[in-house]
Amino acid sequence: MNILGINAYHGNASAAILCNGRLVAAVEEERFNRVKYAAGFPAAAIRYCLQTAGITLKEVHHIAVPRNPYARLGTKLFYALRMPSFARERVKVLAKFTGIPKALASAFDVDPKALSAQFHRVEHHIAHLASAFYCSPFAESALLSADGLGDFARSMWGAGRGQRMKIDGSIVFPHSLGLYYSAVTQYLGFLKFGDEYKVMGLGAYGEPEFLEEFRDIVRANGTRFQLGLEYFTHHRTGPEMTWAEADKTPVLGKMYSDAMTRKLGPVRAPEAPIEQRHKNLACSLQARLEEVYLGMLRRLHEETGIKSVCLAGGVAFNCVANGKIPAQTGFENVYVHPAAGDAGLAVGAAQYIWHQLLGNPREFAMDHAYWGPEFSRDQIASAIGSARLAETGCTVAELPEEELLRQTAAIIAEGKILGWFQGRAEWGPGALGNRSIVADSRPPEMKEILNRRIKHREIFRPFAPSILAEKTAEWFEHSHPSPFMTMAYAVKSEKRDKIPAPTHVDGTGRLQTVTATANLRYWKLISEFEKQTGVPVVLNTSFNDNEPIVCKPQEAIDCFERTRMDALVLGDFLVTRN
Ligand SMILES: [Fe+2]
Repeated sequence: MNILGINAYHGNASAAILCNGRLVAAVEEERFNRVKYAAGFPAAAIRYCLQTAGITLKEVHHIAVPRNPYARLGTKLFYALRMPSFARERVKVLAKFTGIPKALASAFDVDPKALSAQFHRVEHHIAHLASAFYCSPFAESALLSADGLGDFARSMWGAGRGQRMKIDGSIVFPHSLGLYYSAVTQYLGFLKFGDEYKVMGLGAYGEPEFLEEFRDIVRANGTRFQLGLEYFTHHRTGPEMTWAEADKTPVLGKMYSDAMTRKLGPVRAPEAPIEQRHKNLACSLQARLEEVYLGMLRRLHEETGIKSVCLAGGVAFNCVANGKIPAQTGFENVYVHPAAGDAGLAVGAAQYIWHQLLGNPREFAMDHAYWGPEFSRDQIASAIGSARLAETGCTVAELPEEELLRQTAAIIAEGKILGWFQGRAEWGPGALGNRSIVADSRPPEMKEILNRRIKHREIFRPFAPSILAEKTAEWFEHSHPSPFMTMAYAVKSEKRDKIPAPTHVDGTGRLQTVTATANLRYWKLISEFEKQTGVPVVLNTSFNDNEPIVCKPQEAIDCFERTRMDALVLGDFLVTRN
């Protein structure tokens, strides 16, 4: 049985396919159309999923869409009556969602009547929870989803046992932890969709000077929370996110009110310098998020009595808060879906149909994130040939694995910057050793070199370490697995000066714990680096330069040529500049 999940007409458009309950492919549309966080209809992602499964659209039995325009209809009507703009937006949303079968039929040039698939709508946060629980290795788990937008619930929790999930509660519009973070991110002058993680990085440079103010902006409500609505505008002005055209990156409307400015002081303009006050604001924002988020998790632990928790929703990307879960909430095991944001909904919605609706038992756990496109040796060789690399001052060599890894590790250990392209592309926003830029973790100046030469990012943003999983406890204060870079832990104080490049200013690292089972070749590369240097840690950042992560060999070669990377590995090929 084939089940297709589609996240359409929403940021992070994506598709995923399950064949007899096993995930076969999952990918974001942005990897194909090269528009970061692309919304619109993910036709290319769907095409890739069908090709990988070896089936046509007519052979899909169920199609799951992770949004239910009819969920919480009473609340939606209440707001629609008060806000005409909101009512107009709802009509548009409804029209788009009821039009998905038609959009599919026209993208794949088939008669809509020829499609035999049954269509299902799965509520946004239920799909988030499903993506976390059904991909986790836990037979039993508490579940929490939290984000900014989504079918009018903003947070949902419950428990999963076997193939069943039970929802125990939700916090509905307009109260939202994700929206709180997004609104303050905007107030601090970071206006783009997805900028929250920049502010999370900035917070490490500050002190929680404004924590009391933020306790009024997000108020305690028992052991959960509500927003001080006077500081926000979304409950009065309606939808906060629009797309100028279907495939474009989402654009956010203003989310904070004048009361926020009166409370916290003047807004920072996007080009204005970052002062200590802004760092303290970012730190206080994060501190309040952690109080509320960890408090909700503590309560969830008490209520369920379960040792494990599964997380999804945009807030689940807050690796700083996640890193504190094992020590502060009672939960011993944590699983975060690698595409915890809205891309992951495509997987969750499809799994919900297979397990919860059809009652099939669980046999799958997502223990790696490599569900995207891969390219053959011949495709790579042909891309290298077309780029005429050998004729433009590069040496190209196809090497046996052992030699490839030895030479590559030596290049990294010399402080050179390496593009590393292998196997299937990662699912989710993190590069995890298949579409990565890899560098030496030891030189203190590496962060600055990477920024100047390749990444052109804000200097306050940290780079991440990839560590051999079995060495985690020697280098970090916690050793709970973080295979998808969703946890930040303190680097042991005696190790900080050994890996300064991916150690953040507060002494933490957003680590990827690499196992031989999840990614054998990357694990071998880091092992070889350890053999040559004594350090089982490399710096890993996504293979891109202000664009979606590269997908095809040609895009990797373009990025290598455009930036000043020193070497590039594509499969078994090593390309070095002469
Ligand atoms: Fe979401």
